[in-house]
Amino acid sequence: MTPGLTKTPRLQLLTKMKTAASILTLCMACAFLASPAAAQGDVESGAKLAYTCLGCHGIEGYRNAYPSYRVPKLGGQKAAYLLAALQGYQDGTREHPTMQAQASSMSDQDMQDLAAYFSSIANDTVAAGGSEAAGIDAASTCVACHGQNGISVSPNWPTLAGQYQDYLKHALNQYRDGTRKNAVMAQMAAPLTDDDVAVLVRYYSALEGLETTVVE
Ligand code: HEC
Ligand code: HEC
Repeated sequence: MTPGLTKTPRLQLLTKMKTAASILTLCMACAFLASPAAAQGDVESGAKLAYTCLGCHGIEGYRNAYPSYRVPKLGGQKAAYLLAALQGYQDGTREHPTMQAQASSMSDQDMQDLAAYFSSIANDTVAAGGSEAAGIDAASTCVACHGQNGISVSPNWPTLAGQYQDYLKHALNQYRDGTRKNAVMAQMAAPLTDDDVAVLVRYYSALEGLETTVVE
């Protein structure tokens, strides 16, 4: 027996394994790139599940107590971001007692349906970006992800346009002090001063975009 004969099958096996591994990597990349919430969520089922949410999210200007800021608007928010937010509350990486309680009993499908429902609302306005691309200097670094008009350019990043001013301030301050953990936003928020935050949140909240979902 020549060494070549034993080597060949091994080499073939190795090549096969390598191919399998690269296909696997590719599939994982695809799964990561595809927006699962948009693809798998059911809007009608989400609308039913959303009934309990509207007690807070469906009332214009409804406030969170201690600290006091308005409950964020969800109508027209990006699906993959909504899903990530709910997953964050469920696994505890994002902290808020009420929302953690809400998310604790949700199945993956529930979260996808809810994300599909809320992202489907007012989609025309939100997709188009109602306001002029006026922009302000302070927002020049934010534009790459949150868009020219505060309408995010990816389903994974939240739209900021039209969101409540005090909620945006609360969120930015949480990134600044590390209460809310996100590697990207921690870096973005760190150099901001209180004045920068004030200017940014006034700017984004004044743009046309997100909507309060009202009880029908
Ligand atoms: C008792 C009031 C209340 C109820 C009921 C409630 N929420 Fe919330 N929700 C809040 C508050 C307050 C926040 C902001 C929490 C924070 O600062 O992280 C929030 C935040 C969120 C966010 C993150 C938004 C963002 O821009 O990051 C999502 C998504 C969300 N809620 C979805 C839901 C869904 C879905 C339901 C129903 C199953 C629900 N909420 C029910 C009060 C509520
Ligand atoms: C590289 C992309 C990127 C850039 C640039 C960026 N952001 Fe973000 N932003 C994100 C992502 C991703 C999230 C969601 C993080 C999370 O899950 O907490 C986010 C979340 C936010 C939120 C919370 C929204 C909500 O609904 O809770 C605010 C407010 C925000 N960004 C403001 C800004 C501002 C202001 C700037 C510019 C100074 C900025 N961002 C720059 C990617 C970016």
